[in-house]
Amino acid sequence: MNRMNGQRERKDATAVPADDGRPVLEIDGLGVRLPDDRARRPILDGVDLRVRPGESVGLVGESGSGKSVACRSVLGLLPAGARTSGEVRVAGRDVLAMSRSELAGLRARQVAMVYQDPRASVNPLRRVGDFLTEGLRAAGTPAATADARALELLDAVGIRDPRGALRRRPHEFSGGMLQRVVIAAALAAEPALIVADEPTTALDVTTQAEIVELLARLRAERGTGLLFVTHDLELAATVCDRVYVMYAGRIVETRGTDELFDRPRHPYTAGLLACTPGIEAGAPAPRPIPGRPVSLAEAPPGCAFAARCAHALPRCSEEKPALTRHGDGLAACHRADEGITL
Ligand SMILES: Nc1ncnc2c1ncn2[C@@H]1O[C@H](COP(=O)(O)OP(=O)(O)OP(=O)(O)O)[C@@H](O)[C@H]1O
Ligand SMILES: [Mg+2]
Repeated sequence: MNRMNGQRERKDATAVPADDGRPVLEIDGLGVRLPDDRARRPILDGVDLRVRPGESVGLVGESGSGKSVACRSVLGLLPAGARTSGEVRVAGRDVLAMSRSELAGLRARQVAMVYQDPRASVNPLRRVGDFLTEGLRAAGTPAATADARALELLDAVGIRDPRGALRRRPHEFSGGMLQRVVIAAALAAEPALIVADEPTTALDVTTQAEIVELLARLRAERGTGLLFVTHDLELAATVCDRVYVMYAGRIVETRGTDELFDRPRHPYTAGLLACTPGIEAGAPAPRPIPGRPVSLAEAPPGCAFAARCAHALPRCSEEKPALTRHGDGLAACHRADEGITL
């Protein structure tokens, strides 16, 4: 749903470059366990996810479901002591098997990350120009060429007076403008993939809409793949071609955005949609999902959502549902074909 006009716009399919080549990101059967006292707590289990060049893919779910851990695994940024299984391939190469220097190369050239709080991504004492050009200079680009490129990038992300901006420090920018600078830095090396982890959560709604539009335009113009993390389904609808829904460290549903909104097959997806406030006249009042989210470590042997699900059968808390095809996508629910979520 577009927050600006209350209408969910269908995305222009022609804006996405037709490219059925190899996905820029392939996550296969990813499991992550993180240190927790003396044990390791399971955080992700059997996560499969694809992003093709020029495609915008959403990852949604409640707080603690594992979205940020999944993102960090794409850049090889998991905490020390993390144990992983499965594969995370960027442009065909397995990130989980990379050495430190290979990871540095991956982050410098192939994948860029945009975080929720732009101020956490920049050094407050350094000028924006230095921040934007450091990667290019480290890669051997002459200073004058790097400066020209930084100007070009600031212009591309809609910073007025790019030359002046190069000399300023982060505190002289508003949050929205600084997020544009961070996005410009993310684009500097022309990465094949941008991972944006709640990039607009810290911004007001108007600035949020501008940043979202900027990401969509850059993706369409440059063919960059985008993995867009949000807990806001309306935002996912405006930004993403396809959406993955995560609950307790597992993907429970994935499909094209329009079908996900029109006909969710997993009761968790339906619950997320029902608790999203609609702003159009006559929209039903939001209904929160009862109970609280569980972590993968606490999840019962069957479906992790069973205890909160109004449609659960005894079988649901005993037998883990597999992620299988239903409609144009996949859902992990024993009742996915019964139309119970409508
Ligand atoms: N460094 C860490 N060490 C131990 N556990 C962690 C660490 N980082 C995350 N976790 C745990 O992993 C789980 C998933 O966290 P994650 O940050 O990926 O959730 P999220 O879906 O991004 O949530 P949010 O919407 O709040 O950002 C949580 O239970 C969290 O406590
Ligand atoms: Mg997070």
